[in-house]
Formats: sequence, structure tokens, C-alpha cells
Amino acid sequence: MILVTGGCGFIGSAFLLQWLASSDEKVLNLDLLTYAGHPGNLKAVETDPRYRFVRGDIGNPTLLHDLLATYKPRAILNFAAESHVDRSISGPMAFAQTNVVGTLSLLGAALAYWQSMSPGEASDFRFLHVSTDEVFGSLTLDAPAFTEAHRYEPNSPYSASKAASDHFVRAYHHTYGLPTLTTNCSNNYGPRQFPEKLIPLMIHNALQGNPLPVYGDGQQIRDWLHVDDHCAALRAVLAQGRPGDTYNVGGRSERRNLAVVHAICATLDDLQPRSDGQSYSVLITHVGDRLGHDRRYAIDDSKIATELGWLPSIQFDDGIRQTVQWYLENKAWVESVTSGSYRDWIDQQYATRVQDS
Ligand code: NAD
Ligand code: TYD
Repeated sequence: MILVTGGCGFIGSAFLLQWLASSDEKVLNLDLLTYAGHPGNLKAVETDPRYRFVRGDIGNPTLLHDLLATYKPRAILNFAAESHVDRSISGPMAFAQTNVVGTLSLLGAALAYWQSMSPGEASDFRFLHVSTDEVFGSLTLDAPAFTEAHRYEPNSPYSASKAASDHFVRAYHHTYGLPTLTTNCSNNYGPRQFPEKLIPLMIHNALQGNPLPVYGDGQQIRDWLHVDDHCAALRAVLAQGRPGDTYNVGGRSERRNLAVVHAICATLDDLQPRSDGQSYSVLITHVGDRLGHDRRYAIDDSKIATELGWLPSIQFDDGIRQTVQWYLENKAWVESVTSGSYRDWIDQQYATRVQDS
């Protein structure tokens, strides 16, 4: 079996659903169920005998030791993290705790477990760490896209914590020989993304008739990767990646934030027109910029394409339409994840951003 951490989050749940649809191998999901973890994401597999869920912290060495000894996974995939840049700006400590200390604790448990394996099992074992392109910092408009050799220049507390975790993963390979793999992907989008991130937040606000808060001039560029493409890339890296290596994963879809918001509005105009006949784009509101806002991320995917034969398969226009459609059809999911503390976050985050028009 394989052990997945953070499997109740956006990408981890997409990975587990894809894994169980395409493999007979069992999975153990270890997730702390923070505000970002929703067991309902895995409703479709919760009674599947191949699926096991344990609520717990990657920062708990005793629990990790017990789980590894009991379930004996052949691989660990680490998705568990604090993942939102704006939250890292208002509260960086949780990011150091989970992303740095938590990953280090997971590496320590994995190393002890790996060292206890037979030589055959040990050479097949993999520790796959899911990271981000944000560790490379910000690109100018005409700069070449990030390759795996790009220097680390993290700018936000979030990317600094992910960079630190990547360095520990690298060190565990270099120092102890642990067979690690690291992936650095671009911005994911798709079903079940928590509506604090750009795309689901805009869909949710539009449907509520609330302002669509675009930070600054909205000309920042992100590369958009459909979560199902990302999960297929992770499976390829797990199966064929070279231990100790890192792989960049992108969607070949660089877009300006404002263009993304307009694409969402146009899709909603088509799928669920407003009763007043106006476009959802009338709700677009420029607000105060994010502190230290990175201007552009872009991925050079030649390594994963040439070495592992992986390419993204979902075009952004199709992916965004399918995503909007999913949110329209899953209002109960949106309601369940936006009850409780969600409102507090939105009030705290957006009430203080002065409208910039
Ligand atoms: P998410 O915030 O949706 O989910 C994170 C999950 O981790 C949640 O289920 C949460 O309960 C769990 N978790 C948090 N702290 C934990 C802990 N201490 N122990 C166990 N579980 C814990 O995040 P996501 O968007 O699914 O991202 C998954 C991974 O991919 C993260 O490592 C993130 O840095 C990385 N990543 C995400 C994106 C993106 O666009 N979402 C892009 C690049 C990289
Ligand atoms: P986000 O989804 O938070 O991902 P990341 O910061 O990891 O790239 O944001 C994507 C882009 O959208 C980023 O440039 C910030 C911007 N943004 C807004 O303009 N308004 C918003 O309300 C949010 C959440 C993000």
C-alpha cells in the first residue's frame, strides 16, 4: 500500500480518487483535518475496502512510527501542508510548524522505517514530496520559465516554508540516501478546491453576487495546471522518477489574473446567466495588492516531458468550464466548507482591503 498525507485537501483528494480508479493498490490517508481538510472530498471511496483514513498530524512521530510499522507502505506521498499565501502573510508560524517541522518529522519517521526494510524493499521505497513553483520566486515578463536548476528565491512565508521543506528532503537523500522525489508544480485548479484560492473564490463570490476582489492591477501571471493532470504527473514521477531528483510540473497555460477572472465570468454568463441580464464581470473590483505579491510564475516542463513522457492533457478553456460546472452542481459541498470559520477568514482578509478603483 501507499501512504498519502493531506489526502482530505484539494490535490490529495483528487490524487486518491484517481489512484483508486486506476490501481488496485490500497491507500492510507493521514490527515489532520485542518480548516482545509474535508472528509466529504472522499465520500465516493469512504467505504472502499482499499481505503483507510486516520486523523492525525505529520508532526507526530509516535503516530507515524505506529502507522508505518502497522501498514508497511511501499511509498509515502506528502501533500499535507498549510497552502495559502495570504494566510501565511497573516500567520506565518503555522507554516513553519506544518510545512517545515511536520515534513522533517515525516522524513525522520520515513528514514527509520526505510532503514528497517530488507534491501529489496528498501530499493523500491519512495518518499515523494509535493512542492510548488513558488519556491523559485518571481519572474519578469520576458524571463525564461523555471527549470529544475533555477535557484530558490522564495518571497512569501508560504514559499519560504515550502523551500525549507524541499531542502530537508534534498538533505535526507544526500545525507542518508533516502530515495526521495520532489515535484514543483504550478497553480492547480479543478473540483473541490477550497474557496480561499483565486478560482473557487471568484466562482463562489460571483454566485453570491459579491464583489470579485482582484489584487492590485490584476496583471500578475500564473501558470494553471488542472489538478487531474497534476495527479497523473505525480503517478508518473512515483513510478519512474529518479531518486534524489526534482521534477517541475506545469499546465502550459500562463494567464493574467484578470483574464482568469474574465474567463470565469464568461463561463458563468453562459451556464447560469444573472437575472438582471448583466455579465458577472460587473462584480470585478480592484482591491489593495497582496504584500510582496509575486508577478509571474512559469514552468519549463521539458524534463518531465522528455524523461517521463508526461504532458498536460487538459486545455485551460475546457478545464475552467468543467470546474465552473462542478461548482454549480455541488452547491451542498460549497455550503458545507464555507460554514463556520470560513466567514471569519473572508471578513478579516477582505474587509481591510481598500477598494482600488
Ligand atoms: P489544501 O490546503 O487543500 O490541503 C492540505 C491538506 O493537508 C488538508 O487536508 C489539511 O487538513 C492537511 N493538513 C494540514 N496540516 C496537516 C498536518 N500537520 N498533518 C496532516 N495533515 C495536515 O492543499 P492543496 O492545495 O491540496 O495542496 C497540497 C500540496 O500541494 C501542498 O503541499 C501544497 O503546498 C502543494 N501545492 C499546491 C498548489 C495549489 O495550487 N493548490 C500548487 C503547488 C503546490
Ligand atoms: P492564489 O489562488 O491564492 O494562489 P497563489 O498565491 O499561490 O498563486 O492566487 C492566485 C493569484 O490570484 C495571485 O496572483 C493572487 C491573486 N488573487 C486575487 O487577485 N484575489 C484574490 O481574492 C485571491 C485569493 C488571489
